[in-house]
Amino acid sequence: MTADLRLGVNIDHVATVRNARGTAFPDPVRAALLAERAGADGITAHLREDRRHIRDEDITRLKAALTVPLNFEMAATAEMQAIALRHVPHAVCIVPERREERTTEGGLDVARTENALAQFIAPLREAGCRVSIFIAADATQIRAAHRIGAAVVELHTGAYCDAHHEGRPQERDAELARLSGMAALAHDLGLEVHAGHGLTYETVQPIAALPQVRELNIGHFLIGEAIFAGLAEAIAQMRRLMVEARS
Ligand code: PXP
Repeated sequence: MTADLRLGVNIDHVATVRNARGTAFPDPVRAALLAERAGADGITAHLREDRRHIRDEDITRLKAALTVPLNFEMAATAEMQAIALRHVPHAVCIVPERREERTTEGGLDVARTENALAQFIAPLREAGCRVSIFIAADATQIRAAHRIGAAVVELHTGAYCDAHHEGRPQERDAELARLSGMAALAHDLGLEVHAGHGLTYETVQPIAALPQVRELNIGHFLIGEAIFAGLAEAIAQMRRLMVEARS
């Protein structure tokens, strides 16, 4: 990868397929190691409260097996905080979580929970985790993330991707303009800027081209594409598109 734009591969949905049958396979840790060999700069895994895909033992095994950084996604709950403090992953990305949602549908409302969230992330920061907050591209949320002492904001690209794939080009362009402006604001505040959710071969390049963005986290599309092309090739193709957009 270009030194200034990393690709984090989210392996949650390998676990989704495994859990559909109650077997031990396909193994998300095997997928993570393959992704690492294929050039992933990091591995992302979301331990949801309901354990619908990644499970506790997956996190233990990932932490033991990976040589690239682990980005541990979690809700702001006491249970998850204790797990993160046990493993001390390279990065902890705080995401909103609702049981009834299919995926992480929106960003965290940092502004509304600012004091509680500042207290919540303090021990994670002290333990040495790089704390990232998954938020909508919104100035109020970015400023709040900055005030609570987050090192990173990950901007939610879901609305942009949905608008593209659902054939709403004006909305897509408006979302892209918003992401671009908010990436600049976050960067000016000194935050490291990441982006992710819903990215595909068709949508990745305008996001990869935003100069302030340092990392993309991509999962569902890559795991789906792996059915057709293999995981290594899907990752390689995503990286090619990212490098092309950046140059
Ligand atoms: N970033 C964050 C914070 C996420 O919650 C997710 C989904 O788990 C992703 C990136 C990856 O999204 P997708 O699986 O749609 O590529």
